[in-house]
Amino acid sequence: MKRIGAIFLTLMLLFCLAACSNESRQSDVETSSGNENTAADTEKGDDNMTGETQANNILVVYFSATGTTKQIAGYAADILNADIYEIVPEDPYTDEDLDYYSGGRADREQDDPAARPAISGSVQNIEQYDTVLLGYPIWHGQAPRIISTFLESYNFDGKTIVPFCTSHSSGIGSSAANLHSLAKNANWLDGERFSSDTTREEVQAWLDSLGLISNAAAEVGVFNFDTHTVLLNSGYEMPINGLGTYSLHGDECRNSVRWALESGVRLIDTASAYGNEEEIGEAIRQAIDDGIVEREDIFVITKIYPGSEMADPETSIQACLDRLNIGYVDMMLLHHPDTNDVKAYKAMEQFVKEGKIRSIGLSNWYVEELTEFLPQVDIPPALVQNEIHPYYQENDVIPFIQEKGIVVQGWYPLGGRGHTAELLGDPVISEIAEAHGVSSAQVILRWNLQKGVVVIPGSSNPDHIRENTQLYHFELTEDEMNRINALDRNEKHDWY
Ligand SMILES: NC(=O)c1ccc[n+]([C@@H]2O[C@H](COP(=O)([O-])OP(=O)(O)OC[C@H]3O[C@@H](n4cnc5c(N)ncnc54)[C@H](OP(=O)(O)O)[C@@H]3O)[C@@H](O)[C@H]2O)c1
Ligand SMILES: Cc1cc2nc3c(=O)[nH]c(=O)nc-3n(C[C@H](O)[C@H](O)[C@H](O)COP(=O)(O)O)c2cc1C
Repeated sequence: MKRIGAIFLTLMLLFCLAACSNESRQSDVETSSGNENTAADTEKGDDNMTGETQANNILVVYFSATGTTKQIAGYAADILNADIYEIVPEDPYTDEDLDYYSGGRADREQDDPAARPAISGSVQNIEQYDTVLLGYPIWHGQAPRIISTFLESYNFDGKTIVPFCTSHSSGIGSSAANLHSLAKNANWLDGERFSSDTTREEVQAWLDSLGLISNAAAEVGVFNFDTHTVLLNSGYEMPINGLGTYSLHGDECRNSVRWALESGVRLIDTASAYGNEEEIGEAIRQAIDDGIVEREDIFVITKIYPGSEMADPETSIQACLDRLNIGYVDMMLLHHPDTNDVKAYKAMEQFVKEGKIRSIGLSNWYVEELTEFLPQVDIPPALVQNEIHPYYQENDVIPFIQEKGIVVQGWYPLGGRGHTAELLGDPVISEIAEAHGVSSAQVILRWNLQKGVVVIPGSSNPDHIRENTQLYHFELTEDEMNRINALDRNEKHDWY
């Protein structure tokens, strides 16, 4: 599924406020100058935003000798919720150095095309950014030479660079075009000049005109009933109904996945513990070969298990990738809490950075576990998958997770094997189903969707698989939702 470019993550902010430590941010973009101002300037654009890394692929970089460019850069990062990095000279500029037309240091550097003032610190993981906003003051009509140092320090091939400057009165002129040769294979957009009294609204209008602010991105966690997808805090879209594959093996598994893909299902849930990743990978590759889907259209979730798998997470994560053999994995979860869960999650974070996994999350994590876990990780979970059905509703847990910008997915939506008859035959559900001319399964799945819970019913029956996708032509009334809500018995159908 595709990734939304610029993310304006209201809900992420809530996650980060609640969960993340300042320390965690430093691993993403950092300098090593020891300069206190520098440390603060490498935070998220929003003053309160810490801890998020993967939700954004834009980096705002700036050099500012007297604070004017810094202000504009801060607005941009805040609006885009982007990471921000200050270019700090190893040898700071004094007032005397900046006294222009005096033959001082800044004048001399600008006169010397070979001057490359050293930078203190560096951007870590620049490869994760697709777009770099690059801000600088105009010095004698050009960008300060330290901008050349910066551009020559990294590989910008294929990245988009958006220059902007501040000045006393000069326009951006040739200053941006003269930088192009330092990052030849970047896609340079036209630059923009700002004065010292530029407002945040003016910066917003500029970013809007560049198409960097996505309205859709403002809606992380909100279900789109037209596209049948939800935008995750990782920036990727995930379908809101899928196929669960627990207990499916061999041809039964391959056929179920095939029927699901043919029926329009685009989300498949598996796990290392299900022992069927190979079959699922085979069915997907076959469907791609047969022109039924493209890899980018589908979203595959897998999980690594506690015990030996989490003790050696790199090996087990790679083993999932190898067994599935479909290139990247869309989402990997820790299947259950474990003594090694933080270590295993950090290994998943590394795989995200390497582009082998797109989003990561947790399964069977509840309020207490989440409260303890979240501050210890850098990439916020995009998803929590827990047991949820009308007899076990988790009404306290679901909002707790959703308020953090994390999407909730329910397992055993139909009660789980051995329990479906009672749930599907429940008089309240049957009555509501009859009123809408749909099945009990469809009512339960729709109830989940209207609560903002993604559904992954398991089935090896092609008719059921098809039926379980037909959830969008009817809507439960508030009264019907309340009647199903009243069925909660806090009755878990499995031990975890
Ligand atoms: N993270 C975790 O710890 C965890 C734990 C358990 C499960 N899961 C995931 O959640 C998924 C769902 O759980 P589940 O498959 O065990 O249980 P489930 O979806 O609650 O129920 C599956 C049962 O419902 C039947 N069914 C499916 N659609 C139906 C329909 N439209 N009408 C009547 N019956 C229908 C299936 O039979 P037919 O085959 O005959 O359709 C099957 O017996 C799993 O497959 C797995 O991917 C995760
Ligand atoms: C060495 C030097 C040269 C400058 N040259 C120009 C110039 O050619 N045109 C101009 O309008 N402003 C010029 N300025 C002013 C700065 O561009 C302006 O004050 C800018 O907004 C400062 O940004 P900062 O506070 O982020 O460092 C120059 C400033 C310095 C220090």
